[in-house]
Amino acid sequence: MNTKAHWDNAWTDADPKNKSWYQDLPVHSLELIGACAIAHSEAIIDVGGGASTLVDALLTQGFNNTSVLDVSHAALQNAKDRLGARANHVKWLCEDATNWTPAHPFRLWHDRAVFHFLTAKEDRQRYRAIAEAAIVPGGYLVMATFTLDGPEKCSGLPVIRYSAQTLTATFGDRFRLVGETTEQHTTPGGTVQKFQYCRFLRV
Ligand SMILES: C[S@@+](CC[C@H](N)C(=O)[O-])C[C@H]1O[C@@H](n2cnc3c(N)ncnc32)[C@H](O)[C@@H]1O
Repeated sequence: MNTKAHWDNAWTDADPKNKSWYQDLPVHSLELIGACAIAHSEAIIDVGGGASTLVDALLTQGFNNTSVLDVSHAALQNAKDRLGARANHVKWLCEDATNWTPAHPFRLWHDRAVFHFLTAKEDRQRYRAIAEAAIVPGGYLVMATFTLDGPEKCSGLPVIRYSAQTLTATFGDRFRLVGETTEQHTTPGGTVQKFQYCRFLRV
């Protein structure tokens, strides 16, 4: 099954609150985004945002130039349905993060639990090249992956696990690590999963 088919299947008729990665409030993402101190009018993108409630929190904080990208139409529809009329204030992009052309630059790029699915080197290289070109110098990349001792799979797919050091090495010298934290995420089923969050300045 290809990436899009896998994720559309995972999201169709699914209650997002039952997904292992579900968070009522993405506290760590919001903390690292807050540390970037960007203006509410700046362009933000949540890559592989799925049905995450991050976009709800960003709208509530007053961010008014936010995009959510996901390979799954079903995931985006889920988030739109939840937001109702507020969804009209968001740009929804049904794209593969390893193969798309951003229409404009971003000041902040967020990814929680998406990059770690890229187990093929060419996919990681394409993702990184798109991020490097799309994030303005002085902008930020906020990324969360499973830690080195985190789960080996998610949604039935293998992942690559990272530390702050290995993620920094993966993104190369255009991204300077300026903050990091870890999360002990409790899934709806009660399992604890460890996430590594990194905040990079695009230099
Ligand atoms: C584990 S979920 C995380 C969702 C969200 N970021 C969160 O933290 O709640 C992974 C998401 O990435 C999306 N995804 C997986 N591979 C992708 C790709 N190559 N391009 C864009 N989205 C992708 C999936 O559809 C899914 O919504």
